Amino acid sequence: IKAVIFASGAGSNFQAIMDANQEKELGCEVVMLVCDKQGAGVIEKAAKFGISTCIVDPKAFPTKEAYEKKIVSALHEAKVDWIFLAGYMRIVGPTLLQAYEGAIINIHPSLLPDFPGLDAIGQAFRSRVHTTGVTIHFIDEGVDTGPIIDQEALEVLPSDTEETLKHRIQEIEHRLYPKVIKHVLNR
Ligand code: GRF
Repeated sequence: IKAVIFASGAGSNFQAIMDANQEKELGCEVVMLVCDKQGAGVIEKAAKFGISTCIVDPKAFPTKEAYEKKIVSALHEAKVDWIFLAGYMRIVGPTLLQAYEGAIINIHPSLLPDFPGLDAIGQAFRSRVHTTGVTIHFIDEGVDTGPIIDQEALEVLPSDTEETLKHRIQEIEHRLYPKVIKHVLNR
C-alpha cells in the first residue's frame, strides 16, 4: 500500500507519522510529500527521511482544477493508494476528491463538528469551552465535515493559554494519527 502525505506547514504530524512508520508498522509505504508552499518546514523533514517532495504552487495554475490535475497525475504515476492530510491548508476540490474517493484522511484540531475551518484551537480557546480535542475523519466535499473515524477529547484547564492548549492538542495528534492510519489500513 502506497501513501502520500499532504502538508503546508511545520510538519510535526508528518514527522510523527514517519517516526511511527520506520519499519512500515502502519501498513504502508509513504512514497511522497505533496506541499503547496515553497519553504515550508515540512520539506526539510521529508528530505531527512529521503522522501521525494512534490511542490506544487497553486498560483502557477489557472484554476484549482488544473492545480489538482497536476497533483493527481503525480499520484497516479507513483501508484499512490491513500492520501493523509497533515496540516494541508487548502480545501480539497472535486478533481482530487473524485480521483481518491474514500481514500483521503484529515486531522483536525477540535472535536468536530465544533470549530471547523481555520484556527480551530484559537476558536475553541476564545469560546471558553471546557472540552476540546482532535478529530480524524474522511474527507468529503465540505470543510471538515466528512465521516469521523476517531476522536480524542481533552479538558481545557483554567491555567491554559492558547499556547499550552495547542501544545497538548499536538501531543494528542502525534499519537492519534499514526494509530488511526494503522487501524484504517489493517481493517
Ligand atoms: C495540525 O494541528 C493539524 O491538525 C492542522 O494543522 C496543524 C499542522 O501542524 N490541520 P504540523 O504542520 O503537522 O506541525
